[in-house]
Amino acid sequence: MRFSILSSALLGASLAAASPSGPPHGPPHGPPHYKGPPPLAPSWGPIEGGEGEPATLAAERAAAVKEAFQFAWNGYYKYAFPNDELRPQNNSFANSRNGWGASAADAFSTALVMEIPSIVNEIVHYIPTIDWSVSINNMPVSLFETTIRYLGGILSGYDLLTGPLAYLASEESKANIPILLEQAQNLANNLSYAFETPTGIPSNNLYFNNRSTDGSTTNGLATIGTLVLEWTHLSDLTGNETYGQLAQKGESYLLRPRPRWAQPWPGLVGTNVDINTGLFVDASGGWNGGDDSFYEYLIKMYVYDPDRFSTYKDRWIKAADSTIKHLASHPTTRPELTYLAIFHNRTLDFESGHLACFDGGNFILGGLVLNKQKYVDFGLKLVEACENTYNQTLTGIGPEGFSWNASSVPPAQQEFYERAGFYITDGSYILRPEVIESFYYAYRATGSRVYQDWAWNGFKAINATCRTGSGFSEIKHVNAPNGGGFKNFQDSFLFAEVLKYSYLIHAGDAEWQVNQDGINEWVYNTEAHPFKVAGAPI
Ligand SMILES: *[C@@H]1O[C@H](CO)[C@@H](O)[C@H](O)[C@H]1NC(C)=O
Ligand SMILES: *[C@@H]1O[C@H](CO)[C@@H](O)[C@H](O)[C@H]1NC(C)=O
Ligand SMILES: *[C@@H]1O[C@H](CO)[C@@H](O)[C@H](O)[C@H]1NC(C)=O
Ligand SMILES: *[C@@H]1O[C@H](CO)[C@@H](O)[C@H](O)[C@H]1NC(C)=O
Ligand SMILES: *[C@@H]1O[C@H](CO)[C@@H](O)[C@H](O)[C@H]1NC(C)=O
Ligand SMILES: *[C@@H]1O[C@H](CO)[C@@H](O)[C@H](O)[C@H]1NC(C)=O
Ligand SMILES: *[C@@H]1O[C@H](CO)[C@@H](O)[C@H](O)[C@H]1NC(C)=O
Ligand SMILES: *[C@@H]1O[C@H](CO)[C@@H](O)[C@H](O)[C@H]1NC(C)=O
Repeated sequence: MRFSILSSALLGASLAAASPSGPPHGPPHGPPHYKGPPPLAPSWGPIEGGEGEPATLAAERAAAVKEAFQFAWNGYYKYAFPNDELRPQNNSFANSRNGWGASAADAFSTALVMEIPSIVNEIVHYIPTIDWSVSINNMPVSLFETTIRYLGGILSGYDLLTGPLAYLASEESKANIPILLEQAQNLANNLSYAFETPTGIPSNNLYFNNRSTDGSTTNGLATIGTLVLEWTHLSDLTGNETYGQLAQKGESYLLRPRPRWAQPWPGLVGTNVDINTGLFVDASGGWNGGDDSFYEYLIKMYVYDPDRFSTYKDRWIKAADSTIKHLASHPTTRPELTYLAIFHNRTLDFESGHLACFDGGNFILGGLVLNKQKYVDFGLKLVEACENTYNQTLTGIGPEGFSWNASSVPPAQQEFYERAGFYITDGSYILRPEVIESFYYAYRATGSRVYQDWAWNGFKAINATCRTGSGFSEIKHVNAPNGGGFKNFQDSFLFAEVLKYSYLIHAGDAEWQVNQDGINEWVYNTEAHPFKVAGAPI
């Protein structure tokens, strides 16, 4: 997922407020017995025409990732479910996402594509029991986080269970499948007052207990611009057009940015938008957290439906071309590497981070669906530089924040900067997916084994450094022995994203895999939940 500055600031407060007083919901029914037909025979092996890893190795690696997923799920299910997150070191739990079982919602589509019926059915039994009207300890509800994780996870599960993976539902689960869609609708109905503003640009932080907001008069680019895929899909599935209209209205201010100075280069826009006027209030941005998934969704909406969302595609092309022209940046000590700078008006800052590493994958996706090799090639350059943030550290995992500003290198990192081409500004790793996500797109576009090997190295490093107690934990420093210690928190996107992309890059062809030949029948939301596209596959 792409994380917003706003919600990341709130997270600290939310965690502090997490209740020690037990699960918010009653236990669901026990794990249902699986009675479906045997799993589909997976077609292991390289993409046709590519030079991927041999079939036996692919199967072995996919099985190792599946083992890690099953292990983390067992820990969560035993010690934390139906709370949001597991604290793996002391078998405790946290509720940073309102106590609705975020890890279960986020694990749903991964358990499906890994074809693990026991976990799929546990989650199908649970989702109908969630009460969206109550947020644990009255914690604020993030429209963005709730949309990408809960709404995204449930809609994806619904798509897969009413489509190619229907056989995974047990007999008892089948009756619950229509309720998944009802629950998605209940959730959206609870959230929809967020859009009741003078412009229709939503407020992001909501208090359900008194149907108020945090009073903020602005909202951010990513938090406004990363709703439209989920809410449009909900409209398409339910026939109620209101959901899509609400999200598209908010998005319309981002597609036609005002005032003019808020768009320093064509397609590249500022970050904060006044929800009372619809005007941008700054001209700072880029592909880092807070802005990231706005750009991501421009091209993904086009994949979702090329007829309805071709203007989104036009805006993506403008942003992509300006990015290649103005933001591509090369470290003085490693000029062959390409990172993306951020901007304040037309002044650049050489700062990036793990979140921004989705950029390579997004350029590659754009190149594939527009049939433009230049975007694929540029994306592959970005992918290589993100791999470099992994393979230069002691743990083999990339840092949360890094920079390549030659005039600000801390003396203690001078040697590191000479060798690596970047220095670390925030050494933590919080189980983020973006680097492995981009390896996935690189592999699907090229069929080249090198990306599978990079993903495997990344997965092995995460498994070796972050695995502790009953699950996986955030670590303090990627360039310290043993990651500098654990933070005792397993965010839900480990399930949704890290383990899904780590698995799919070795898994055989399936209709939900990203394709290189103009037949993408599915598109992944920013939390890695695949949605069935509504238009003609491209
Ligand atoms: C909120 O969701 C619950 C289901 O969890 C539903 O019963 C309720 O009607 C919804 N509230 C609104 C305002 O839509
Ligand atoms: C469609 O969804 C909107 C937004 O939640 C809701 O207010 C409206 O009642 C729904 N319409 C129907 C016909 O269900
Ligand atoms: C709504 O409830 C929240 C949480 O209890 C509180 O912080 C906020 O001040 C309340 N807002 C209003 C307008 O009453
Ligand atoms: C942005 O920079 C341009 C020149 O690069 C300048 O003309 C313009 O006034 C600046 N805009 C703002 C809002 O600072
Ligand atoms: C580099 O760092 C200096 C000092 O913090 C800052 O003034 C300058 O704007 C930075 N330049 C870039 C390109 O990041
Ligand atoms: C490390 O990253 C670089 C990209 O900077 C890549 O060329 C190289 O192959 C990587 N090394 C390994 C062992 O994967
Ligand atoms: C992951 O870690 C577990 C526990 O240390 C270990 O048993 C397993 O072999 C590791 N998997 C890989 C692929 O290294
Ligand atoms: C588990 O550890 C966390 C700190 O990481 C602490 O806040 C919590 O109280 C501990 N819970 C139990 C049950 O020991």
